[in-house]
Amino acid sequence: MDRELAALGARLRGAITPRAVSACLGVSAIPAVPRVDAAPPSPCPPAAAPIWLWCADRAVPASALARALGDAAVATAIAAGLAIRDGDALAPAVLLAPIGAGLVVCDVAARAGDDRVPWPDDSTLHLIGCLPPRVDGAWLDLGAGPAAAALAIAPGAAPRRATDVNPRALAWARLGLALAGRADVTLAEADLAAGAGGGWALVTMNAPIPRPTGLAAADSVWHASADDLPARLWPQLPALCAPGAEVLVHATVDDAGAGAPPAALGGAVIVARYSPPGGRGFALIRWRPDAPARRVAAPVVLGIGRPFVTRADLDAIEAGRHPHPTVDLR
Ligand SMILES: C[S@@+](CC[C@H](N)C(=O)[O-])C[C@H]1O[C@@H](n2cnc3c(N)ncnc32)[C@H](O)[C@@H]1O
Repeated sequence: MDRELAALGARLRGAITPRAVSACLGVSAIPAVPRVDAAPPSPCPPAAAPIWLWCADRAVPASALARALGDAAVATAIAAGLAIRDGDALAPAVLLAPIGAGLVVCDVAARAGDDRVPWPDDSTLHLIGCLPPRVDGAWLDLGAGPAAAALAIAPGAAPRRATDVNPRALAWARLGLALAGRADVTLAEADLAAGAGGGWALVTMNAPIPRPTGLAAADSVWHASADDLPARLWPQLPALCAPGAEVLVHATVDDAGAGAPPAALGGAVIVARYSPPGGRGFALIRWRPDAPARRVAAPVVLGIGRPFVTRADLDAIEAGRHPHPTVDLR
């Protein structure tokens, strides 16, 4: 099955690219796909069938999908639990989000429950946009969900570990890695970094948003956590990090820096905040525990053609050449 899944994945990656999805569904960015409310054209062009099925969450004629992918690939997709036959049509059993080089497996919209794994949102893309261009050292991704970050970028030789508390997310991560023919990522069900040991050159986390009163009914564990995970994570990081390591966390931070690594931990903290000022807002935080101590924040203004925070934003803030005012948090 591994070989068939990898062959199916190669076909799917050729059919479901970010550019093809944008053109077919008329979205400007992949996180906007769940807002598509159109129906597939009739007859459905074969090239569009995989996109309507696995991205737009719509049933498509089995004949159109077979013309796009071939009968053997369609049979593998059904056997692997990616699609369900319903007479002459196929319905999606999961969705496939094209992120970077990979296809991220997530739940169909109708799947309810706290353990639901939703389509990647902007936060996924903010974190991925801030990754180093090459990840050469050992990489620990916490709260990895269906392994979007690991799937988005090329495999590496050093160890990679992706952890999550949600077994359903890890099952989808396993399926996504199998479709990518990847065996370079170790998956583990763990609270934060439990069992990860030390020596990580890169530690990343796209953290769920703390809800001190517990999960609201509409939330999944993907979106919200009962406790403040970054606050619990910061003090653990010195023991996890290799010398010279980098930490990237998507989290909420206030204008005074609460939510970022506390000053007492030292190192260089760069906060790229993309929510408007006032109260807690979303930000990408880069922390280099061994770098000379500093703590700065700056706004990143997003818009059309500039939808996500990037590593260039972090570098510009750190180098003092960011176009917006940089605030010293000390
Ligand atoms: C915002 S989602 C990010 C998922 C993925 N990394 C991405 O960027 O698309 C947060 C993830 O953290 C996981 N999570 C929640 N509590 C956790 C904990 N205590 N330890 C590890 N992961 C946790 C959730 O299950 C969810 O997959």
